[in-house]
Parts: sequence; structure tokens; C-alpha cells
Amino acid sequence: MADFTSEFWSWFIIAGAALGIVSMFALNRWMSGGPKEGGKPKTMGHVWDEDLQELNNPLPRWWLNMFYITLVFGIGYLALYPGLGSFAGLLKWSEVGEYNKEVEAADKKYGPLYEKYLQEDLRALAGNREAVKTGERLFVNYCTTCHGSDAGGGPGFPNLRDRDWLYGGDPQTVKASIMNGRIGVMPGWGAALGQEGVFNVAEYVLSLSGRGTNVNAAASGREKFQQLCVACHGADGKGNPALGAPNLTDGIWLYGGSQRAVMESIEKGRQGRMPAHRDFLGEAKVHLLAAYVLSLSAEKSPKP
Ligand code: HEC
Ligand code: HEC
Repeated sequence: MADFTSEFWSWFIIAGAALGIVSMFALNRWMSGGPKEGGKPKTMGHVWDEDLQELNNPLPRWWLNMFYITLVFGIGYLALYPGLGSFAGLLKWSEVGEYNKEVEAADKKYGPLYEKYLQEDLRALAGNREAVKTGERLFVNYCTTCHGSDAGGGPGFPNLRDRDWLYGGDPQTVKASIMNGRIGVMPGWGAALGQEGVFNVAEYVLSLSGRGTNVNAAASGREKFQQLCVACHGADGKGNPALGAPNLTDGIWLYGGSQRAVMESIEKGRQGRMPAHRDFLGEAKVHLLAAYVLSLSAEKSPKP
């Protein structure tokens, strides 16, 4: 309610609400009036079914009182809760406040449990069914929008179920990825290489994972690769986990392995961004999330 772009709309709503209440009150008053004291009810001039007349008798008292009660309730509600433009209400109630209260209550309830897990070794925790279940619930809440409900990833979002890691799969590194976030920086080479250059380098990159390619193009791409790409992807193209530069020889692709996708990666560059969760979730929850992620790739047989 405090998000109006100008004061005008706030007052517009306050005026509308006040006018509504006042006019309902006036209508009620008007309806309670009837014929003058001692006078006979007058006809309103409407007749149905030959002799059924509309008279100006007042509405029943109990009926009118019900309307007065709803009006008083409405005024009370608008005084206590947000509803009148940007006026926050005397109770200062808000959805955000309500949410924060619930989170606080949940933290109080589960906090000690999370703290206990935080003291445990990640590898051991990854084998603890209860901990992994809790981690899975957190994952469903916070991570599936990007990594998929089964953590299988998608174009631009790494698969967390396999043993292929951009930044490394040892427990501390996985935890660091979640705590601090990651930004993969692959510059675009379209301007430096030109259309043909991009094609040639892409042919070479594809040949690294054993794909049949145009031999001449790949040979000329190889030279460019040695000049421009080895600093990050390594002389053999196996990548560099310190930079999150992917291994280009394993046939696993973050952005897709079609010729078109690889050419696009090289021409325009890629900037994958994994948000940091340290402040948002706190270390104890991240610890459980790391345990869950580790449990996925540690599974000997795939999940049923
Ligand atoms: C500054 C370091 C750096 C340089 C130089 C660099 N890359 Fe990359 N490259 C990366 C990073 C980091 C990623 C992952 C980007 C992400 O995570 O979003 C990447 C991703 C890629 C991808 C996508 C891989 C996939 O799995 O989808 C390809 C293809 C690629 N690079 C090829 C090249 C080629 C060819 C060159 C040289 C012309 C090159 N890179 C130069 C850092 C670099
Ligand atoms: C906004 C989208 C987004 C959300 C939300 C997100 N991630 Fe990520 N995550 C990414 C991207 C993109 C990358 C790859 C970064 C790169 O390209 O360098 C990544 C990378 C990772 C990595 C490193 C993978 C590797 O191969 O080294 C881990 C681990 C990870 N995420 C776990 C999580 C967990 C756990 C959560 C939930 C708390 C989560 N992510 C939430 C987008 C997201």
C-alpha cells in the first residue's frame, strides 16, 4: 500500500472510501424515515398485480441496524489495518511483517536443528537421510527455479546431479558456490574473430569432444584457440575450475553442444550468474543445501 507513485492516488482512494461510507450512512438514514408521526403511510405510486402497492414504510429496524454495524465495522477496520491509501493502519499490520514473523517462528523452531547439522562434516551429512531430506526441501524452495526440480539444470544452468563441475565438486567448493555465488565471464569474440573465425574456432572446439568436423577449418581454429582461449580453457581445452571455465572436451555443455549454440557462445560470450545465498539464507541452511547437492552426485545408482 505504500507503493503509490504520487500522494494523489493515496488521497484519491481515501476520498473514495470516505465518500462511500458517508453516502451509505445517509442512505441508511433516509431509509429509516417513514410517514410523519401518526400519519398514514403514503403510496409511492407503484402498483403490481392490480392491488399490490408500494408504501413509504421504513425498513425494519433490525435490518437497518445490521447495515449500521457493517459501517462501524468498516470504519474500525480501516482505522486498524491498511486500506486507506498509504495510511498503514494503527496496528501497523503488513504482509511483509506477517511473513517475517512466520520466518522468525520457523527459525526458532528449526534453528537449533540446523545449528547442530552445521557442526557436522559435509561428507557425513550427505549420507544422513534426515539431513538430505531437509536439504531437499530447502532446495525445492530456493533453487529449482534455476536448476530444475530434479537439479538436472537446463541451458545456462548447470546440472547438479552429475560429477561434472564448473567450479569443483569437493564439499568446501560446492558450499562456497552456494554461499558466495558465482559469475562466469566468457567474453564475446565476434568482433575479434569475424564470422569465419568464429566458425573455425567452433569447429576446433567441437573436434575436442571427438565430433566429426571440417578438418581445415578446425586446423585454422586451433591456432586462434591457442592465442585467445587457452588462458581460461587451458592448452588442452579441459577448462579451469578457478574461473569456472568449462571443460570443452567432455561432451557436456552448459549452453548446448549444437554447432549453432557453440558458435553463439564464442561470438557473443556468456555470463552465467549464480546468486549468493550467504545473507539470504544464512550459513546453516547453505550447509544443508550443500549436503543435499553432494548427495545427488554421490548416489551410486540413479534415483528411482
Ligand atoms: C576470460 C576467460 C575466458 C576466455 C579468454 C575464453 N573463455 Fe570460453 N568460457 C569462459 C567461461 C567462464 C565460460 C562459462 C561461462 C558461464 O559460466 O556462463 C566459458 C564458456 C565457453 C563456452 C560454452 C561452453 C558450454 O559448456 O556451453 C564455449 C564454447 C567457450 N567458452 C569457448 C571459448 C573459446 C573458443 C574461446 C576463445 C576464442 C574462449 N572460450 C575464451 C571463460 C573464457
Ligand atoms: C537465479 C538462478 C539461480 C538460482 C536461484 C540458483 N542458482 Fe545455482 N547456479 C546458477 C547459475 C547460472 C550457475 C552457473 C554459474 C556460471 O555459469 O558460472 C549456478 C551454479 C551453481 C553451482 C556450481 C555448479 C558447478 O558446476 O560448479 C552450485 C553448487 C549451485 N549453483 C547450487 C545452487 C543452490 C543449492 C541453489 C539454491 C540455494 C542455487 N544454486 C540457486 C543459477 C542459479
